[in-house]
Amino acid sequence: MKKNCPKRLFLHVEETESTNNDIKKMIYSGDCRAVVLSADTQSNGRGRLGRSFLSPRGGVYFSAAYPLSGGEDNIPFLTLAAGLAVAESIENSPKADGAPAPLIKWPNDIYLNGKKVCGILTELVRAGEKTVAVVGVGVNLKSFGEKLPKELENKISTLNCEGYFPESGDFIRLAVARLDRLVYVRGVLGDVPDDIVEELNRRSFVRGREIVFFDGQNETCGTALSIERDGSLRAATENGDFFIRFGEITTPKNGGI
Ligand code: BTN
Repeated sequence: MKKNCPKRLFLHVEETESTNNDIKKMIYSGDCRAVVLSADTQSNGRGRLGRSFLSPRGGVYFSAAYPLSGGEDNIPFLTLAAGLAVAESIENSPKADGAPAPLIKWPNDIYLNGKKVCGILTELVRAGEKTVAVVGVGVNLKSFGEKLPKELENKISTLNCEGYFPESGDFIRLAVARLDRLVYVRGVLGDVPDDIVEELNRRSFVRGREIVFFDGQNETCGTALSIERDGSLRAATENGDFFIRFGEITTPKNGGI
């Protein structure tokens, strides 16, 4: 998929159920290929694996569509590319001295200082002949106030708490422009260039850490080695190297996140 980046149309609403759902509805009802939709808050924000995604005011929630031509053979890489685009956008935001580097927890989270500050949900929509990938990004920007459930207190944080102070509109534009460039100019949904695989590994939160992988039925323990060109995570286990393509990993030595 190497071509020019689309000219994006940025729409913003105060509140919605889920920006991913809205973009999906647009896809079903016609065309939305260039729209980026953002919201101040979501009443039914959705995360990976059927979970909900807490979306109070003070966060940044947006979704964009990536129509697929059929020639892309590396669609799982889209989530990682989005993670890279968001991590670089965080790093390029106004920041305090000594703000920690944003790291990518395979496959879809961004961490600062060992705490989650962003989640990414990629969904595929089939409408008629067309297949469109919808990439949704939720970033914790400002303080949560008192709304944060106790069990999440030590597991999630916000950009502001960790020393980053982007303006939300600028941040969305920067992140989408970076992801568009990765998809349309660098062609990451086909052959991923070496420098991008290297950059992802440089920014990997789990590299070298003990991980537990849960595939829905069984748990496998190992050490995370590298993010691979096909989007999988390679881990060393007692039975040899193992390639994790889908599912959930946790890092038990980091409080189970
Ligand atoms: C996760 O952490 O599991 C992924 C969270 C993805 C949340 C974003 S917010 C914008 C878009 N709309 C949704 O309902 N979900 C995604």
